[in-house]
Amino acid sequence: MATMESLIVMVNRIQRACTVLGDHGGDTNLPTLWEALPSVVVVGGQSSGKSSVLESIVGRDFLPRGSGIVTRRPLVLQLHKTERGLQEYGEFLHLPKKKFTDFSMVRKEIQDETDRMTGKSKQISPVPIHLSIYSPNVVNLTLIDLPGLTKVAVEGQPESIVQDIEIMVRSYVEKPNCIILAITPANQDIATSDAMKLSREVDPTGERTFGVLTKLDLMDKGTNAIDVLEGRAYPLQHPWVGIVNRSQADIKKNVDMIASRRKESEFFASSPDYGHLASKMGSEYLAKVLSKHLESVIRARLPGITSLINKSIEELEAELSHLGRSVAVDTGAQLYTILELCRAFDRIFKEHLDGGRPGGDR
Ligand code: GDP
Ligand code: NA
Ligand code: MG
Repeated sequence: MATMESLIVMVNRIQRACTVLGDHGGDTNLPTLWEALPSVVVVGGQSSGKSSVLESIVGRDFLPRGSGIVTRRPLVLQLHKTERGLQEYGEFLHLPKKKFTDFSMVRKEIQDETDRMTGKSKQISPVPIHLSIYSPNVVNLTLIDLPGLTKVAVEGQPESIVQDIEIMVRSYVEKPNCIILAITPANQDIATSDAMKLSREVDPTGERTFGVLTKLDLMDKGTNAIDVLEGRAYPLQHPWVGIVNRSQADIKKNVDMIASRRKESEFFASSPDYGHLASKMGSEYLAKVLSKHLESVIRARLPGITSLINKSIEELEAELSHLGRSVAVDTGAQLYTILELCRAFDRIFKEHLDGGRPGGDR
């Protein structure tokens, strides 16, 4: 019987195939199809811990991180769950067929590719870098890392950078299919959180915002964030999740992901303040909550996605037959791949309806 998971896998593949196709969708509904598919966007002030949270969700050490403006282009990160025992690897859209098994090389390539577009300056660019990670240890998710919101330009940056970043971030979080991971560091005044300010504006009911509180380990002694984490201070529809990422010192000491996750669980389990919340805190829990949420969003949108996919099937068939030989081989092949994926989705969806209870199960 087809599972919800296999549908999510299909959605993920179609999303990736549409990405590869870029703007060559012709007159088809593919851009609309991409927009109908949910993705998770990480939003917050500079150095709030966005990239660190993403790495924790993936369970891998592969993003440039640090103080100041490190993330200078959007990174669209597609996670594809593979079968147990298979080797993990990353693959960039701009370097097709090159498999990165060494994740420190993934980090280097992100840095190099950022510099290629922006120069070595501290400029930003809205042109995304697309990275896919294939691993048995991930959940099927599309995550987007963005430059941090900032209030002042630093030396070497144009004055307009503050606004440019906000416009860029907004263009992602405004879309109704966007699930917002709003990152706020616990060692700063949460009332002034850039992430909360923006997410409240674009999602006033809080139905697509997940509040994430980082740096709980850096709060002043004698203070805690219980009011926030228990949902009283800033109520959202989804529970807040507290996180302890690696500190800069840990990164310098090369503390690995496994050790840092263990440290994080120990922090919550042994904390007099947060002990009672321990099972609902931490990056592993956040990853689970997100993928469950994504599943429910896709479930709710299945009728819409399915009709779009059926429309796309017709359009793609028409497009392919009329393009004939005039189309570049790559584009034709890619359209054909998407067509095949859409057909497969349609087939799995029908099995899903036949095999499961209405609405499906796993
Ligand atoms: P971004 O700019 O929002 O992407 O933030 P980064 O993930 O690059 O993190 C900025 C800095 O804060 C890095 O030096 C991290 O090691 C540090 N950091 C992030 N989260 C935590 C945390 O939960 N605890 C501690 N102690 N440091 C953190
Ligand atoms: Na940073
Ligand atoms: Mg970053």
